[in-house]
Amino acid sequence: MNRNIKTYIPFSRPHLGREEEEAVTEVLKSGWLTTGQAAKRFEADFAGCTGARYALSVNSATAGLHLSLEAIGVPPGSYVLTTPYTFTATSEVIRYMGADPLFVDIEEDTYNINPNNIEARIRENGRKMAAILPVHIAGLPCNMKSIMEISRLHGIPVVEDAAHAFPVRLLGRYAGTFGATGVFSFYANKTITTGEGGMVVTDNEEIAARIKVMRLHGIDRESWDRYTTENPAWAYDVVAPGYKYNMPDITAAIGVRQLEKAFPMRDRRRDIALKYLNAFSGCNYLKLPVYDDEHAWHLFMIRLDGERLSISRDEFIRKLNNLGVGTSVHYIPLHLMTYYRTRYDLKPEQFPVSLNNYLNSLSLPIYPDLTDEEVDKIIQSVKSIGILHYKRALM
Ligand SMILES: Cc1ncc(COP(=O)(O)O)c(C=O)c1O
Repeated sequence: MNRNIKTYIPFSRPHLGREEEEAVTEVLKSGWLTTGQAAKRFEADFAGCTGARYALSVNSATAGLHLSLEAIGVPPGSYVLTTPYTFTATSEVIRYMGADPLFVDIEEDTYNINPNNIEARIRENGRKMAAILPVHIAGLPCNMKSIMEISRLHGIPVVEDAAHAFPVRLLGRYAGTFGATGVFSFYANKTITTGEGGMVVTDNEEIAARIKVMRLHGIDRESWDRYTTENPAWAYDVVAPGYKYNMPDITAAIGVRQLEKAFPMRDRRRDIALKYLNAFSGCNYLKLPVYDDEHAWHLFMIRLDGERLSISRDEFIRKLNNLGVGTSVHYIPLHLMTYYRTRYDLKPEQFPVSLNNYLNSLSLPIYPDLTDEEVDKIIQSVKSIGILHYKRALM
């Protein structure tokens, strides 16, 4: 295996610099480490950028999704329509509420939830649908026009999992601002990162108020307010059994700096995506991701055409690794995971598009710090394996 530290290209690497270091130092020196002014600034900047009325910082997108479902009121025993083609966080929060995920298969080309299938699932199930939870997978926006039409038609609120999708615009607004809430992730490998962290955006005053209270123990006053106004800090009420989901200022300060670089970082990822698309355009053994000018390119997922290649996806990954290229697979669909499979008695073929896309997909490195030389090496590595294993009879 070629794990030479100097030449191995990791699957992901954050883009951090002096600005983030200085911002963290400033917070450390200020003596205020928990949620405070830096979090408020990050929220104001994020709301300003996305045009959302409220932006509420949280310590992960998982927390933000949970708070969103709590705030819109997902009752135990209800269903939430979502995609199996996602990270488990999307679905576990539905279970936190005592509700059940109702999986809906994806579109082959986009990997996003298929709106036609949502309609079908609503019609075939009598139980109450409490929410639709689409995921803008890889940073390619879902068909929000159709999803919002379904939402209006059936009176089912939408919570957007925009963990991969910043900054992404469609239909004149940001992904994440169509639903009752939208939730972004700043996990270490995301398009802007704070290590761990998330943001919920909403235009709804009541939802924002509920999330504010529930992200900090169900306390009716924020700690910044408690320690900086004349009312004594001890004078607060607990109005619900809330959670500990607030974002500390050290984290938020990094977020402010990352947000300032979001567009240049996106532009670099787009350049890399275009290089890949160009270089692989003649490789008929690969299925390439859909191009969209507004794609966030959190992930660059390719699919191997098993009809044309005599190598399995897993072997392809091993060979790339041996050539010094780190890759990953997004995702093992949730209906194949032990918990969901056994709890809901799900069969692999029940979501055939998800299954098939998963079996053939791998994700190539795509991040601002990749050099042109590294991108060339990745392209050459993919092509060299592809050519070696091309089924000659088809040529
Ligand atoms: C689609 C999706 N949703 C939600 C999450 C959860 O994000 P976080 O790690 O910030 O909780 C992730 C994390 O990778 C994700 O990929």
